[in-house]
Amino acid sequence: MRFMPVAGERQRYAERKALLRGRAVEQHTHKSGLRSKLSAMRRSLIVTIIVFMLVAGGATAQSTAGVQQQPVGSRDGRPITLYTLTNSHGVEIRAMNYGGIIVAIRVPDRKGQLADIALGHETMEGYIPNPPYLGAIVGRYANRIANGKFTLDGKTYSLPQNDGTNTLHGGVKRSFDKVTWDGEPLKGTTGVAFSYLSKDGEEGFPGNLTVKVTYTLTESNELVIDYEATTDKATPINVSQHSYFNLASEGNGDVLNHEVEINADRFTPVDKNLIPTGELRPVKGTPLDFSTPTRVGARIDDTYDQLTLAHGYDHNFIINRKGDGLTFAARVYEPTSGRVLEVSTTQPAIQFYTGNFLDGSVTGKQGHVYKRRYGFCLETQHYPDSPNHPDFPTTILKPGETFRSKTVFKFSAK
Ligand code: GLA
Repeated sequence: MRFMPVAGERQRYAERKALLRGRAVEQHTHKSGLRSKLSAMRRSLIVTIIVFMLVAGGATAQSTAGVQQQPVGSRDGRPITLYTLTNSHGVEIRAMNYGGIIVAIRVPDRKGQLADIALGHETMEGYIPNPPYLGAIVGRYANRIANGKFTLDGKTYSLPQNDGTNTLHGGVKRSFDKVTWDGEPLKGTTGVAFSYLSKDGEEGFPGNLTVKVTYTLTESNELVIDYEATTDKATPINVSQHSYFNLASEGNGDVLNHEVEINADRFTPVDKNLIPTGELRPVKGTPLDFSTPTRVGARIDDTYDQLTLAHGYDHNFIINRKGDGLTFAARVYEPTSGRVLEVSTTQPAIQFYTGNFLDGSVTGKQGHVYKRRYGFCLETQHYPDSPNHPDFPTTILKPGETFRSKTVFKFSAK
């Protein structure tokens, strides 16, 4: 089932209808006399209808502010619902309880023109399968665990390998992007909460892990994502959001012209399997230095070993931070539209990925073919493969503790 049309489309539809009605009036009056009088009336009627529809269209955007729900199919016998969060500026975030997937993000450009900047599909079925993890919540362990193995409290755990010998984004069958979550609109705010119980042993991980992810849309055009988890056995957790953005609008070419700034002095270099070597390397003097805004395409094909290994940017940047509060992590600006995305987070790091593995095999919304580097991701996270790097900040959640993290995606234009 197709996702219902967005507010902008609803408005365009209303305007089209108004015009058609205008034409009908024209045909009807054509044969009768008193032509000039009627044509004046006709003109004023058309103007009235259009003005009315525009006002009504505006009112629609107002009156739909809040959370709307649409049934969009079922998975494993459970209903899948699309939640549309709309604020009074007409900004829209759409997400469904299958994989917690964000299916659309409609935000204004510098002229106030709304466009969908999230790569994705127009139906729930379009996401089955979803090899690039478009828009999904990723976990239990976002990013890679080397050789699908880790040892915790003397016991070695084996996970399904789905990226060469690595475990990528939590496994194969029941990773967070592929399961049905419980969805519930938030009360008193424009948001939705998705909850999921990942059972002890699921995808090889220990402990019953209860996870809650909420998406809230604010009146300042921010998408606030809150993550929370508890467990009954010690277990690693690293949960993130895998939206692909193209600030010019989804499907609108590659992202090489976007300008990126990342608040990181260091990154974790990787080996040929994209597993951190353990080194924390300064970005200074490398093509990974985004301490001042730099075009994605300016250095992406340099012959620097890290870029060659990852086929572009696909790296974990360590956020410069004072304390563990919400800290500015990255900013992206797209010059033609003027759109800006700013990311802040409580997480220690952020994966900047330039869609190097998009290869044109996925066709998304409106028949758009998602080719190499047609989108970028900014995945706030812990360092990849932390369970095998005791010197990295720990990702182990213990019974009695609550894992909490927050990431804010703020949309604006200049
Ligand atoms: C992450 C990884 C990339 C790639 C994508 C999914 O961003 O770091 O290497 O696997 O997910 O295609």
